[in-house]
Amino acid sequence: MSADLVIVANRLPVDRVTLPDGSVEWRPSPGGLVSAIEPVMRANDGTWIGWPGGTEQDLEPFEADGLQLLPMSMTQAEIEGHYEGFSNGTLWPLYHDLVAKPEFHREWWDSYVSVNKRFAEKAASIASEGATVWVHDYQLQLVPQMLRELRPDLRIGFYLHIPFPPAELFQQLPWRRQILEGLLGADLVGFQLPGGAANFVRLVRQRVGHKTHRDLVYLPDGRTVRAAAFPISIDAAGFEKLALTEAVVDRSKAIREALGNPRKIFLGIDRLDYTKGIYARLRAFAELIEDGHLDVEDAVFVQVAVPSREQVEQYRILRDDIDRLVGRINGDLGRIGRPAIAYFHTSYPREEMAALYSAADIMVVTPYRDGMNLVAKEYVACRTEDDGALVLSEFAGAADELRQAWLVNPYDLNGMKSALLEAYRSEDKDLTRRMRAMRKTIRHHDVAAWADSFMTELGSVSHSSHAKAVRPAKRS
Ligand code: G6P
Repeated sequence: MSADLVIVANRLPVDRVTLPDGSVEWRPSPGGLVSAIEPVMRANDGTWIGWPGGTEQDLEPFEADGLQLLPMSMTQAEIEGHYEGFSNGTLWPLYHDLVAKPEFHREWWDSYVSVNKRFAEKAASIASEGATVWVHDYQLQLVPQMLRELRPDLRIGFYLHIPFPPAELFQQLPWRRQILEGLLGADLVGFQLPGGAANFVRLVRQRVGHKTHRDLVYLPDGRTVRAAAFPISIDAAGFEKLALTEAVVDRSKAIREALGNPRKIFLGIDRLDYTKGIYARLRAFAELIEDGHLDVEDAVFVQVAVPSREQVEQYRILRDDIDRLVGRINGDLGRIGRPAIAYFHTSYPREEMAALYSAADIMVVTPYRDGMNLVAKEYVACRTEDDGALVLSEFAGAADELRQAWLVNPYDLNGMKSALLEAYRSEDKDLTRRMRAMRKTIRHHDVAAWADSFMTELGSVSHSSHAKAVRPAKRS
């Protein structure tokens, strides 16, 4: 096996699920990474290395939907140490502004190092001479350097899908220097926003002592590393097309009907994660009913919470908190056939998501911190009639582009209440003006443009004379 393009991500695009009868099914894995990378994978016959979930060992490479997949197994101890521990108990909260308290455990770090090493070795063993390897996200920050040591001929790119924190927070990490050096193994380190890239360069200067100039880092061996922002996007045309299919249009009407044809539907769709600000947003909505500004006869809040990282304690606590809150709000404010909040703890296929986006009048996306937030962009892509309102946290990366949303500070409950109410009461003319502008932005900057710009940049900064060129993804 040998590949000119290798994608390395903690997860494969599909999860391996063993059904009660012992048979095996592959399901799309959580998160937005897959749809983002798929087009460039297809254009280059790439191979994807990643974990398919679970503890199954010795899995064979296979093909799914035309993609070459190379599953990496993890032991229970690695799941606990590398995945639930260091990735999601240390790095995730640390990189998201300490929304929860990160824990620092040396055993977790050891496990993170050994899993990163295994991923790097696997990539090194299948990449062809001069191939491009694109490493993704916070679970694999040591892979670029480990890989470079094994295979100096490769062109290596790294992309961080989550925020990169300011130095003041990052330096809490006992292994801060190792992480920075791990990332510096790449030729190009990509971030969602310019702020993340600037935080990284500043930390490299302060903590590793390399010379830097603007977005460049000069290493003692003569190599140059570039750190820059590449805000990720979605397959906008694909979502738009989906929203216009008869099945989705019908389903969207059926959803409104099933909710009792309220005047306005509010919608939240998030992985059940404490960074997403679900609790505060539901409280804000409930208070608007209590204050008499909204009535359950006219308005309902549909909240979809996608199960996530359920073995991590913080996520269990959050689930219980939200269950209790929804129960209390509906108990206090709902009427027969008219809950204030319609709550679903599940994940839906793309078609159902598109139908929900089409049915919703006000999309509420209020994370305390978020790398980008693709749900906000998907909603905009599905509003084919240029209507609907987006209430969006200032602290989501998407807020940099979607300036015409109602931007809110999720820590300011009264501010959120005002924005929700304004969006609820706004006139069609205002909605159209805002949505049109946002749709233009999304159409112009879609995921193919994102992958192309990263790949083009990687091609131009790479030092390696052996490296082969990578073809851009075709637009759908
Ligand atoms: C975020 C991360 C991804 C991750 C996804 C789902 O989008 O940036 O790297 O895969 O969440 O989380 P999970 O822990 O289930 O992989």
